[in-house]
Amino acid sequence: MVIQDLLDKKRLKKELTDNEISFFVNGVAKDEFKDYEVSAMLMAIAINGMTDRETTTLTLEMAKTGEMVDLSKIDGVKADKHSTGGISDTTTLAVVPILASLGVKMAKMSGRSLGFTGGTVDKLEAIDGYKTDISKDDFIKNVQTIGASVISQTDNIAVADKKLYAMRDVTSTVQSIPLIASSIMSKKLASGADIILLDVKFGKGAFMKTKKDATKLSKLMVTIGKNAGKKMCAIISSMEEPLGKGIGCTMEVRDAVQVLNGAKNPLATVSKCICVEILKLAKNIDNKTATTLVEKAISDKSALNKFAEMVKAQGGNEKIIFDLSLLKQSKSKVDVKAKTQGTVCEINGEMLGNSCKLLGGGRFKKTDPGLHEVGIDMEVRIGTKVNIGDTLCTIYYNDDKNVEEVENSILNAIKIKNVKHV
Ligand code: URA
Repeated sequence: MVIQDLLDKKRLKKELTDNEISFFVNGVAKDEFKDYEVSAMLMAIAINGMTDRETTTLTLEMAKTGEMVDLSKIDGVKADKHSTGGISDTTTLAVVPILASLGVKMAKMSGRSLGFTGGTVDKLEAIDGYKTDISKDDFIKNVQTIGASVISQTDNIAVADKKLYAMRDVTSTVQSIPLIASSIMSKKLASGADIILLDVKFGKGAFMKTKKDATKLSKLMVTIGKNAGKKMCAIISSMEEPLGKGIGCTMEVRDAVQVLNGAKNPLATVSKCICVEILKLAKNIDNKTATTLVEKAISDKSALNKFAEMVKAQGGNEKIIFDLSLLKQSKSKVDVKAKTQGTVCEINGEMLGNSCKLLGGGRFKKTDPGLHEVGIDMEVRIGTKVNIGDTLCTIYYNDDKNVEEVENSILNAIKIKNVKHV
């Protein structure tokens, strides 16, 4: 087999066989192809698409190029969740302890912040002492004994994805739905859970800008997972504005703990919805029963206590979960005030995520530390009525170098209707 024959087929919109897809993926993993050959294939897929069968094979072959995590030593049903990424999207930190407290084993490998979006691993590390790089044996032990563990995804998961992802980034092929689906699902299948929930985001702060594309992506990923023998469910949720109040690791830990303390807000709604969908599959129960169980785990504090137990098992200071003032604070803060009056009609999450990065909360280079304590706390949502001088948000920072730029960017990100200029 030669790569040029495969390129020819894809260019002519013909279906690749399973053997051909396997040849391509394994060649990528072993660096057997030239960059231009891989790029040409990615572009042909991006333009001409793939059938569900081709995408399923692509995903399974990509998963097999790295470690396939074996969770069989853990008793009971193992579940995992994946969000396609967004701003102030802290559901994992609430969902994992809620479900673990209800007996669903949560074995979760998470990522760091990517682009303008936040990452679960960085958020957990905002809890003093929390280790996300524990050994695989300790990960399995924690899931078995406590019911949950969240660690950072190891480098040897879906090796081909790493190479393809880097190539997609520079060939304008990131947005292809079969390529996104296979990238996400190859890592999820390799992570070994029985149940996988996908939280597919759409809107200004998400990868998929429209609900239609998010729905298409979610259906394809559910099909791939089912074809691979997994129990699958998906929700579509809005990223037209940040999900929680905080944008930045420390603030997002606080938001998640508030959900576990019974807060009622959009973050709580999406987190509970995820828990209910997973519980229904894990315990074979109806919506009402699952909802009651989730509400009880929050009201009787078993989910909050479970979070503290998880934090302690991974070296973190569990006292923080009961006393949020122990979280590391930024050196300074400043309120951003409305310069016009009216109703908030748009909040651009991507701009806010990038602002948090500028404050030092994200990485421009791999070696940047990513400060946990800096970020933004939102005081408004779409629909909030504001008067001139009202606080739109608070910026937390250590160094005032970029604060003015961030303030201006925030004022551009938050659009107010019925504008009256000062
Ligand atoms: N997340 C991934 O892991 N891969 C994609 O292609 C998009 C989001």
